[in-house]
Amino acid sequence: MPRTEFIATGHHVPERVVANEELAEYWDTSDAWIRARSGIETRRWVEPRGETGSDLALEATRKALDSAGMPASALDCIIYATLSPEHYFPGGGVFLQRKLGVQGIPALDVRNQCSGFLYGLSIADGWIRTGQYRRVLLVGAEVHSLALEYDRPEGRNVGVLFGDGAGAAILGPTEDDSRGVLGVNLFADGRFAELLWVEGVGMRDSPWLTRTHLNEGKHYPRMAGREVFRHAVKLMPEALRALLDTERLGPSDIDLLVAHQANLRINEAVARQLGLDEGQVYNNVQRYGNTTAATIPIALDECVRSARLRRGDLLALVAFGSGFTWGSALVRW
Ligand code: UT7
Repeated sequence: MPRTEFIATGHHVPERVVANEELAEYWDTSDAWIRARSGIETRRWVEPRGETGSDLALEATRKALDSAGMPASALDCIIYATLSPEHYFPGGGVFLQRKLGVQGIPALDVRNQCSGFLYGLSIADGWIRTGQYRRVLLVGAEVHSLALEYDRPEGRNVGVLFGDGAGAAILGPTEDDSRGVLGVNLFADGRFAELLWVEGVGMRDSPWLTRTHLNEGKHYPRMAGREVFRHAVKLMPEALRALLDTERLGPSDIDLLVAHQANLRINEAVARQLGLDEGQVYNNVQRYGNTTAATIPIALDECVRSARLRRGDLLALVAFGSGFTWGSALVRW
């Protein structure tokens, strides 16, 4: 069976840079608090009625296709990870497909929030290894800024953390045994679903959408930050250690760790527990905030374009988020 390699990557973020100071106009917060607790300094936000998630995904995909020297018509399928779709249904994959002009190929939507890219990578890897598809486009794209709770004080809880953006990867088979995706480990624990979620609107309630839902803000994300933090710093290192063990590798073999970008403090704690030094880790949450399914492919593309990641390097990926869902991956680049 062939292994799966990353053929090319791309990313795109909206032009508008939003500094922490601007958020203090909406909520009772401060640049000092946001930096100290999360490490975030700026994030990118779309203009209202401006770019949509699939627009961001399209730009990221175009850059990846450019790097690959490949037309969109060469793609065999699309995997689109998002928690912020443009419509309740259908998912974003078909809108991206339409914009790429590649009618007919399958478009799968993945709803695993911050772990969406890793869940998507696992699916892509399976399809490629079994020969079902040869050119898989895997995208993570999010527009959070339009669904933040600006009109309530409690909105600051998640409002200061999230940003908009998209990252894309084109994956395909390689006959080179020494390279490619070595493994992907996925996990979930639904006991904690309510600790980070949007309670409404959905088919649990009848009627599914009422004025009360809106008045109570049930269409906004809610997070028990401390609990999420506590689980993230425990489960991410565990997930990565387990995969390293399987591959008979250790933390010192890692050339680059790209973790989900939710909070710099979380990623520092993960690196500390694994005994990694600064040179082994890449973070960009300072500039983009948390772009959920898009964090890993955005960071990955920055590393590729700046030659921070080179052929032969051992790349480790790890993510944790709502569900809870989490996972890790190892790639010989
Ligand atoms: O991507 C999915 C996964 N998500 C995450 O991984 C996020 C995980 N959680 C976190 O990153 C952190 O828990 C936060 C950054 C969300 C919060 O940091 P924290 O150190 O856990 O703060 P806290 O929630 O315990 O709040 C500390 C204080 C509280 O005030 P009191 O009770 O000490 O007076 C909060 O009310 O900070 C207050 N606070 C804020 N103050 C200014 C909470 N949010 C804010 C805010 N600005 N935005």
